[in-house]
Amino acid sequence: MVIFGASGDLTQRKLVPALFYLARERLLPAEFTVIGCSKTPYTHERFRQKMQKALKEFSSLSAGDESLLESFTKGLFYISEDFSSAQAYGKLVEFLEQMDRERGTGGNRLFYLSTPPSFFPVIVQHLGATGLTRPKFPGKSWTRIVIEKPFGRDFESAERLSRTVTSVFEEKQVYRIDHYLGKETVQNLLVFRFSNGVFEPVWNRRYIDHVQITVAEELGVEKRGAYYEEAGLVRDMIQNHVVQLMSLVAMEPPATFDSTAVRDEKAKLMRAIRSMPRDQLDQSAVRGQYAAGWVGGQKVPAYRSEPGVSPASTTETYAALKLYIDNWRWAGVPFYLRSGKRLSKQVSKILIQFQRVPHLLFRGSGADSIEPNVLALRIQPNEGIALTIGAKLPGATMQIRPVKMEFRYAESFGAEPATAYETLLLDCMLGDQTLFNREDAVELAWEFLDPVLTRWKEDGPKGLSFYEAGSWGPAEADSLIEREGRHWRRP
Ligand SMILES: NC(=O)c1ccc[n+]([C@@H]2O[C@H](COP(=O)([O-])OP(=O)(O)OC[C@H]3O[C@@H](n4cnc5c(N)ncnc54)[C@H](OP(=O)(O)O)[C@@H]3O)[C@@H](O)[C@H]2O)c1
Repeated sequence: MVIFGASGDLTQRKLVPALFYLARERLLPAEFTVIGCSKTPYTHERFRQKMQKALKEFSSLSAGDESLLESFTKGLFYISEDFSSAQAYGKLVEFLEQMDRERGTGGNRLFYLSTPPSFFPVIVQHLGATGLTRPKFPGKSWTRIVIEKPFGRDFESAERLSRTVTSVFEEKQVYRIDHYLGKETVQNLLVFRFSNGVFEPVWNRRYIDHVQITVAEELGVEKRGAYYEEAGLVRDMIQNHVVQLMSLVAMEPPATFDSTAVRDEKAKLMRAIRSMPRDQLDQSAVRGQYAAGWVGGQKVPAYRSEPGVSPASTTETYAALKLYIDNWRWAGVPFYLRSGKRLSKQVSKILIQFQRVPHLLFRGSGADSIEPNVLALRIQPNEGIALTIGAKLPGATMQIRPVKMEFRYAESFGAEPATAYETLLLDCMLGDQTLFNREDAVELAWEFLDPVLTRWKEDGPKGLSFYEAGSWGPAEADSLIEREGRHWRRP
């Protein structure tokens, strides 16, 4: 495995810990080898020390892991080069050959692009020019590439990047990663929908009133102000994670659980998302930016006062959208999506709100105000599923209150779910693309979000709302849903 960007944040916080967990579960062969590549001049030994330190900091090690830690880090190597220099790739070709000879790595190659997105096309083109994109032993070994998000910054740039990638790789070699899809509850969403007979019959416009998807972060932009100024919330979270969650909730059942069937259904669903007309955007899209406030008992600055951020920035750190899916199953059912930084709580959750019962039997008993059934799929934290139902309060009078039927991953299985990167890296090594994004899905997501981003850019400060850090977002986002007689449910 060749990691481009090996001295960076993602490698030490997520990739190397995920590889270590896989090794601990005996899912990696002893010959497994990582070649890290980035600019900082480390020796192999210095790189290993840095990764050992990262493993101690970012993964849960137990006393028995010491010897594995030693043998695992012996399989880590490092090349210090600039990604733009052709010489780097010549060196890489030689080093890969040497690893095949000395460590018996057998010719399979997995390239991982964990670099600033501007280097994605640069690296891909160089890999193509050196012939590293082709399997070493055709039919007997494989070569694959994992590309981190963001895949483009709009439809046009995503299409351009796709063309570069597919000029040297075949689609079956390309793994566009969205780590949300590796989370256990996200995969469980498909199991939940398609292996339980009771839910699918009511999973449609006849029984579901609306769907809410919330991906909320307590964190601000930390040290990534300059990156965020260019990206904004929609590019960073909605275009990938939130839209992916929506497509899994709403897609039709695939005929089989293989990557083509699942990804065909996701693409079909995304094609059915109604585009938001520019002149009616105010009715279906809200953007906000955090002002100073309090999060977790700490006073935090406004986005505009963060390092690397312009004091007059109009970049959104919050967005709420209302979308419709124009197909037989979902006609008329609104999907409300919201995501933001510096919100009250770190939580990702999908809520399916069912319609009220058609006839209220228990008038005057408090039951006429009873909430409809809500199915909550918690993606993080405390991964699990809960169904809210109305139940009779004990006592002589008829009083009804909502109660929850709950399933919690950790409790039911006595184990924490695997980390998302662990699942996805293993899938990639096994050649399973089901949980990775296909070119068409990425482009379709940009296609319906582009008009929103263009209009916001043109409007500048006009229409940008502010919200206090530590709140649940701007009041305008409440109005978006409340003017239709609904409300955001506190996750
Ligand atoms: N961090 C996360 O939690 C996270 C989550 C999801 C997705 N991602 C995505 O993952 C990718 C990496 O993110 P990151 O946070 O790890 O970024 P990062 O900390 O800024 O790391 C960037 C890496 O690229 C290397 N690099 C930059 N320019 C180079 C050049 N000209 N030649 C050689 N090496 C160069 C850096 O090496 P030197 O420092 O040695 O120059 C560093 O190793 C991004 O696409 C990001 O969007 C990150």
